[in-house]
Amino acid sequence: MELTSEEQDMAAGKYGKATQKAMEILVTLGEIYGAKRLIDISSVQIAGVSYANLNEPGLKWLEEMAEDGEVRTFTTLNPAGMDLEEWKKLGISEDFAKNQLRVVEAFGKLGVITTCSCTPYLYGNLPHYGQSIAWSESSAVCFANSVIGARTNREGGPSALSAALVGKTPEYGFHLDENRQPEITVEVKAKVQGTYKFGALGKVLGDRLGKKITYIKGIHQASVEELKSFCASYATYGGVALFHMEGITPDKVREIPSETTEVTEDDMNKAMSDLDDDTEIDFISLGCPHASLAELEYIAKKLKDKTVNPEKEVWITTARPTKQIADRMGFTKIIEDSGAKIAADTCCVVAPIKGRFKGLASDSAKMCYYGSGRNKFSVKLMSMDECIEEALK
Ligand code: F3S
Repeated sequence: MELTSEEQDMAAGKYGKATQKAMEILVTLGEIYGAKRLIDISSVQIAGVSYANLNEPGLKWLEEMAEDGEVRTFTTLNPAGMDLEEWKKLGISEDFAKNQLRVVEAFGKLGVITTCSCTPYLYGNLPHYGQSIAWSESSAVCFANSVIGARTNREGGPSALSAALVGKTPEYGFHLDENRQPEITVEVKAKVQGTYKFGALGKVLGDRLGKKITYIKGIHQASVEELKSFCASYATYGGVALFHMEGITPDKVREIPSETTEVTEDDMNKAMSDLDDDTEIDFISLGCPHASLAELEYIAKKLKDKTVNPEKEVWITTARPTKQIADRMGFTKIIEDSGAKIAADTCCVVAPIKGRFKGLASDSAKMCYYGSGRNKFSVKLMSMDECIEEALK
C-alpha cells in the first residue's frame, strides 16, 4: 500500500504507540484485501463494548491503547453490557458493572463519544450520501450502506478503533463502486408491514441468498423503524452489508440483475414459524435495534394505566439521548409505572443474562437469533402489539 509521509510517520511510531499499533492493523488489513491506499473517513462506530465480550484481555488492550491514543475522527460507541446508570434495576452484578464502567472510561479517554447505541444515525452520527465511514455494528453498517448511501465495510472492533485513531481506513470492499453493484433481483410478492415482518423478510433473504447483493423490488413503503429492523435481521441471517431497495437506496445501479428470485407469503410464513418455538414467554425484549423516540411514544401509549404481569420481565432497549427526551415527555414514567423497564446504553444480547429466562418474545428477528443461539432462550417473533399484549397477559 502506498502511504503518505504522515502515514509513514504514524507507522514508525512518531505519533505514539497506539497510533502505531492502529496503523499496523490498517496496513495489514489493506494488504490482505488489496487496498492501494488509506482514505479519509468522516466517522467511526465501534462495536465490541460489552465486558461480556471483551473480558479482561480485551479490556487490558483497550486500556493500553488509551494510555497515549486519541481518536482523529468523530467516533461513537455500540451498546454496553448494561444501563450505565441504572444497572442495578436490570439485575447486573457489582463485579460486572465495575468492569463495564472501566471499558466505557477507556473509550472515553480515547476521545470516543460514549453514546452506547447501535443506531448511531439517530443520535448525531449521521453520514451523508457517498461519505466514507468505518462502522462495525452490523445492523448500522447495513443501514448506512443501503439506506443512507454512505460507504463502509463491516469493521471489527479493533479495525474500527484503528480507523478512529488514524482517521482513515483502507480503500477496498464497499468503498469502491465496482463492489456495490447488485447481483440478483428480488421480487417481494408478500405483504411486508411492521418491524417483525421486515425482520422476517431479512431472514428469508439472508437464509436464501447469503451475502449476495440484492436489488429488492416490491417494497412500496418502509419506515425508519422497519428499515432498521430489516437491516439488523438481513445482516444477521445473511452477513449482508449492502442491499439495494427500489425507491429507498440512493445509490444508482449500473444494471438491474436479470436473475430473479421471489419472496411469497409462504416464504414469510415459514420464516415466522421458524422463529416460533411455541414456548411460554417470561421475557419480552423491544428495541432491537435501539428503540426510536416514535417507538417509545407508541409503547408508552399502549402501556398507559396498564400493569405488566409481575412474572414477566420486559426490557425496552434504547439510547441514552432518546431516554432523556422520553423522561421529559413522561413516556419513561408511564412505561416504568406499568412494570416494564427502559434499559438505556445496552441490549439484551450483550447484557450478561444468558440462561436467566426461558422464553423470549421480541419484534426483532435479530434478537430471536441471538436470544436462541447465544442466550439459550426459546424464542417467538411477534409484532410489537403482540409483544405488549403478551407482557400484560
Ligand atoms: Fe442493537 Fe443489540 Fe439488536 S446491538 S441491533 S439491540 S442485538
